[in-house]
Amino acid sequence: MVSAEVGIDYVLWTEAEVSARVGEVAAELAADLRAQPEPAVVVGVATGAFLFLADLVRRVDVRLAVDFVRVESYGAGTESSGKPRITSDLKVDVAGKHVVVVEDIVDTGNTLSCLIAHLEKKGASSISVCTFLDKPARRKVSVQLVGDGKFYRGFECPDYFVVGYGLDYAELYRNLPYVGVLKPEMYKKDSSN
Ligand code: PRP
Ligand code: MN
Ligand code: MG
Repeated sequence: MVSAEVGIDYVLWTEAEVSARVGEVAAELAADLRAQPEPAVVVGVATGAFLFLADLVRRVDVRLAVDFVRVESYGAGTESSGKPRITSDLKVDVAGKHVVVVEDIVDTGNTLSCLIAHLEKKGASSISVCTFLDKPARRKVSVQLVGDGKFYRGFECPDYFVVGYGLDYAELYRNLPYVGVLKPEMYKKDSSN
């Protein structure tokens, strides 16, 4: 069998660096959620957020609900389609609740703007965003938080195509415990898409 890391050029954040930073973000989020009167709803954006969400919430010792939505914008390529679709909706009712959206990465901002509008329509009273990576160089739509929502981020990400810790290329590499930069020859074939 082929190792999970075939095609990785170099490591951007090691497993230990990821873990340390997730702990810091979790502490900040926990302190804020403790000040909320009602349990918050933590909404992970599948599939990319699954590892970050799992590592985050187990370090947030506060009563909360966890749910997932699926919002897809990249398909199998490396470029955002710009038209995200909600392909799987919430199970939990977020009306009147504080929602914390958990993402692996904010790139153009299209996925979040679509999801935040959706959650607002469902009556969320406030919406925070907690993203593992933030790539501001690629932003096309600014992140509009709702109510007293806050923006939390793990790392600012340079403008490379990164994979691992939930982030995929063509659905692969999500299980790497670190964040790495993909060798350009791995996706060059897609540049005509
Ligand atoms: C990726 C990533 C974010 C989104 C960020 O998801 O996980 O959800 O794109 O890009 P944006 O800010 O330009 O919208 P993707 O659509 O690849 O689905 P996935 O999580 O299943 O990989
Ligand atoms: Mn995603
Ligand atoms: Mg993806």
